[in-house]
Amino acid sequence: MMNKAEIFANSTVNDCRIIQLEKNAHENGALSVVENDGTMPFDIKRVYYLYDIPGDAERGGHAHCENQSLIIAVSGCFTVVLNDGAESRAFQLNRPYKALYVPAGLWREINDFSSGSVCLVLTSECYSEDDYVREYDEFLALTASKRSK
Ligand code: TYD
Repeated sequence: MMNKAEIFANSTVNDCRIIQLEKNAHENGALSVVENDGTMPFDIKRVYYLYDIPGDAERGGHAHCENQSLIIAVSGCFTVVLNDGAESRAFQLNRPYKALYVPAGLWREINDFSSGSVCLVLTSECYSEDDYVREYDEFLALTASKRSK
């Protein structure tokens, strides 16, 4: 088990990836499933969702020490920008059958929400404010070793 300093020193945006979920399409609509069957990067402990989001909203603006996430645009679209302290990657999510895997130790921002969009987040840990790094300066300090190489 890595400690906080090690997690931030080793996190990389290269570990983010889009996980394609199955889409069960029928004439009456479609259905996709995420379950703890060993195919996901972690077992899911918590589900939350963002909705009623103004188009100019900026969500996120923090990093997690341990918590991992899967982020899904179950409706509409938005952009997730991830930063490991040295590199950043942006993902536009616009399909309910594509999940973005976000490991711990990355700064995240979510913006460019389309009207009526819903951002579903599945997480590896229960909610704990202690797991958050909300100050960007602290995030920069935790990832400083990546920029001195
Ligand atoms: P936050 O994680 O900062 O949201 P976002 O990254 O989407 O902008 O959470 C917003 C507020 O909601 C904050 O006061 C903490 C609270 N919150 C909970 O109480 N439980 C939760 O599971 C989450 C994710 C947030």
